[in-house]
Amino acid sequence: MKNYFILFIKLAVSIQFSVSGISSGASFAHQVHVAYSSSVIGAGIISGDIYYCSMGSYARWAAACSVNAFLINTVSNIQAAVNNAADGLIDNTENLKNSNVYIFSGKLDSLIAQPVVEKMLEFYENFQANATTVFNFTAQHAWITSNDGNPCWYLGSPYINNCGYDAAGAILNKLYSNLKPKTSQIPNNLLQFDQSDYTDIWQAGLSNRGWIYIPTSCQGSKCSVHFAFHGCMMYYDLIGDAFIKKSGLNEWAESNNLIIIYPQTRPGSYNPAGCWDVYGYTGPNFAVKSSFQMSAIYAMASTVPLVNWN
Ligand SMILES: *[C@@H]1O[C@H](CO)[C@@H](O)[C@H](O)[C@H]1NC(C)=O
Ligand SMILES: *[C@@H]1O[C@H](CO)[C@@H](O)[C@H](O)[C@H]1NC(C)=O
Repeated sequence: MKNYFILFIKLAVSIQFSVSGISSGASFAHQVHVAYSSSVIGAGIISGDIYYCSMGSYARWAAACSVNAFLINTVSNIQAAVNNAADGLIDNTENLKNSNVYIFSGKLDSLIAQPVVEKMLEFYENFQANATTVFNFTAQHAWITSNDGNPCWYLGSPYINNCGYDAAGAILNKLYSNLKPKTSQIPNNLLQFDQSDYTDIWQAGLSNRGWIYIPTSCQGSKCSVHFAFHGCMMYYDLIGDAFIKKSGLNEWAESNNLIIIYPQTRPGSYNPAGCWDVYGYTGPNFAVKSSFQMSAIYAMASTVPLVNWN
């Protein structure tokens, strides 16, 4: 019989973490980076949109932020961030200077086309972030791996494509220096936690359970925290463990004292695909620190759930 308890570790020092994501999860990772730039050391983006691309409108999001880059005026999005920072709604945008950013966009991506992703790059360049881009793979819209998933050119569930390229490793090596080679992930180190400990999951559009990979070396001790955000149609209740097991992140985490948190959305009437909120379905403040989803992520980073068995 296993008894199950949760131990919360409160970090005394200033909170630092990193983020990555695919699709709406990439746009959301970028949004968390911009809003919490004093805590987020960098972001790994696989096919995402510029900050406040939707401007709070689903219609605009669907039209401009997918394949119609000409509808995006980067200056307006930069101004939105600058204004939010001036109003104290997000952290000072000067923190973005020199922060590490990795951006992947496939040549075949038909859901968020390369010219749209380039708008996010322009945003980061404006704030002098240290951005690396990989735009030369014949890849469709998916999380990219070296050995798991559908063919690189394929578009479809679970939106994990094998392009013979370890995007997880590229992301983590951009965000952290001197990483050790990856090793095998340990299945028992992938655990569930209760997201309702952090927020009102109904208002936030989150599932009651999230997933966390805690390397053996991090059980009971402090480690760096990285969040990986799934895309639309990629939440656990739809695709099972495809993303949380096959992202390629856990293998690097195990050998490098990194905790990977995979928060999970829940689909709802204004969000049937279970996307992360980058267009306002949780409220007009979706892009600032006080938003339901981003404040929940910050709370998870502040009080990492360490799940143990005895
Ligand atoms: C930018 O990042 C690269 C690693 O990706 C690093 O080698 C370089 O020193 C960084 N540049 C600055 C100015 O921090
Ligand atoms: C993409 O470009 C990088 C650096 O220029 C190169 O090493 C890599 O082989 C290229 N990949 C593809 C699939 O073209």
